[in-house]
Amino acid sequence: MSPAEGVRRLALADLETLSALEQAASPDPWTQDQLRAALSDPDTRVLGIEREGGLIGHAVVVRLPFDAELQAILVDGQARRRGLAGRLLTAVIDQAGTWRSERLLLEVRAGNEAALVLYRRAGFGEDGRRRGYYPSCVDGQREDALLMSLPLA
Ligand SMILES: CC(C)(COP(=O)(O)OP(=O)(O)OC[C@H]1O[C@@H](n2cnc3c(N)ncnc32)[C@H](O)[C@@H]1OP(=O)(O)O)[C@@H](O)C(=O)NCCC(=O)NCCS
Repeated sequence: MSPAEGVRRLALADLETLSALEQAASPDPWTQDQLRAALSDPDTRVLGIEREGGLIGHAVVVRLPFDAELQAILVDGQARRRGLAGRLLTAVIDQAGTWRSERLLLEVRAGNEAALVLYRRAGFGEDGRRRGYYPSCVDGQREDALLMSLPLA
């Protein structure tokens, strides 16, 4: 099986299931309007991974003038630690390569251990930190954002 197998581009017809997954599994769910805009934008790809016909993960990547940016990656809580985010990330990197992007950029909560391990394993390096960028999570404290990138060119 190829690393990105089972991943397909999502379309407006997938809006309801995509929105249901966001609401069920994301700590910061996108609104339906945000998802509709992403699905409709020619410079954005929403990639999804399914099991038994149901959507269990997705990623959103945007084409910028020189780089690409990973804006979201999410796997259903019941389906984690099975390599699905790794597969989505491979498909995102392939898409950025197709766009001839120089780098794949992202920002992540400094305390999001699962995502940090995933990104570091894929070769992302840290470029900087935005202090207190994210609104409070558990303890009322704002959380830093780490800025990361993967060179592609
Ligand atoms: C981050 C997330 C997408 C990872 O999805 P996943 O399908 O479980 O990830 P994978 O199974 O592909 O894991 C790949 C590697 O990442 C690391 N990893 C993933 N989850 C981890 C966790 N909870 N703790 C430590 N390492 C973790 C591991 O190295 C893992 O490989 P391994 O299982 O062989 O050790 C998932 O936890 C999620 O949807 N979180 C909520 C949304 C989110 O935070 N998205 C990122 C926003 S920037």
